[in-house]
Amino acid sequence: MRIPFVAGNWKMHGSKAMIQDHLGQFTQQAEALNNVNIAVCPPSLYVSAVQSQLTSSSVKVGVQNVCDQAGFGAYTGEVSVDMLVDMGVPYAIVGHSERRAFYCETDRQVADKVAIVLDKNLTPILCIGETLEERESDQTEHVVKTQLIAVIEKVGIAAFANIVIAYEPIWAIGTGKTASPEQAQAVHAFIRNLLAQHDTAVAQQVVIQYGGSVKPDNAAALFAQPDIDGGLIGGASLDPMDFLAICKAAS
Ligand code: G3H
Repeated sequence: MRIPFVAGNWKMHGSKAMIQDHLGQFTQQAEALNNVNIAVCPPSLYVSAVQSQLTSSSVKVGVQNVCDQAGFGAYTGEVSVDMLVDMGVPYAIVGHSERRAFYCETDRQVADKVAIVLDKNLTPILCIGETLEERESDQTEHVVKTQLIAVIEKVGIAAFANIVIAYEPIWAIGTGKTASPEQAQAVHAFIRNLLAQHDTAVAQQVVIQYGGSVKPDNAAALFAQPDIDGGLIGGASLDPMDFLAICKAAS
C-alpha cells in the first residue's frame, strides 16, 4: 500500500561534471522502475543543474536543509521554503543528524522547519535517530520518541500524512556499519506504533525510510522488512550504478 521512497543525500559532494555524468547514466534506467519514488538531494547551489538533467524524468529533486524563517529577508546564507516553491523543489531534508550535531539544530527548530515546509505543501524528510552511546544505554526509543513528539506537538498528527520520516541511527551513518534488518525494523515498528497511538490510519500511511550505510548488497534485506519503506542514502548515492541498484531493490 505504501510506495517505497529512495532519496539520495549527496551531502557536501557534487560538481557540474559529476551531475552530467551521474544523472545521464542514472535517469534513463531509473525511468524504467515501477513502484518506487526517487529523489536526489544535491547541495542547494546545484539544484538547477540537477533539474536540467531531470527534465523528462520521474526522479525528483530535494534540498538538504531549509531556513527556519519563511519568505525573504536578511538571513545571510539561508535558503527559504519560498525559494523551493519558486524553483519547483518538492522535498526538503529536515533535521539531519549532521545539522543537529554540527549546526546545533534543536528539536524545536527542526519542528519549526517541518511546519514551514508543510505550509507550502512541500514534503519534509524528517530525520531522527540515536547516537551509539544512546543505543548502548538503551535510550533509542526514548530519543526517537522525543524527536517525534516535538514535531507532533508542533504540526499535529494529521500532518504526518504528508511527512516522510527517515530513521537514521547515527552510529550507522557513513561508518559502513549498517543496522541489521531486525534492528532497523524494531525501531521502525516502534515509530509506527507511536504514531498509531495518535492516529492508526496516518501511521499506516507514513513512509519511513532507513538511512545508514545502505549499499547495493544490504538494501534488499532492509527494504524487505514490513515497516521499512525505502531509504535515505548518503555515500552510495554518489555512485550512479550503486544508487540505481538500491532504487531497484526498493521497487
Ligand atoms: O542522509 C543519509 C545518511 O546520513 C546516510 O549516509 O549512506 O553515507 O551512511 P550513508
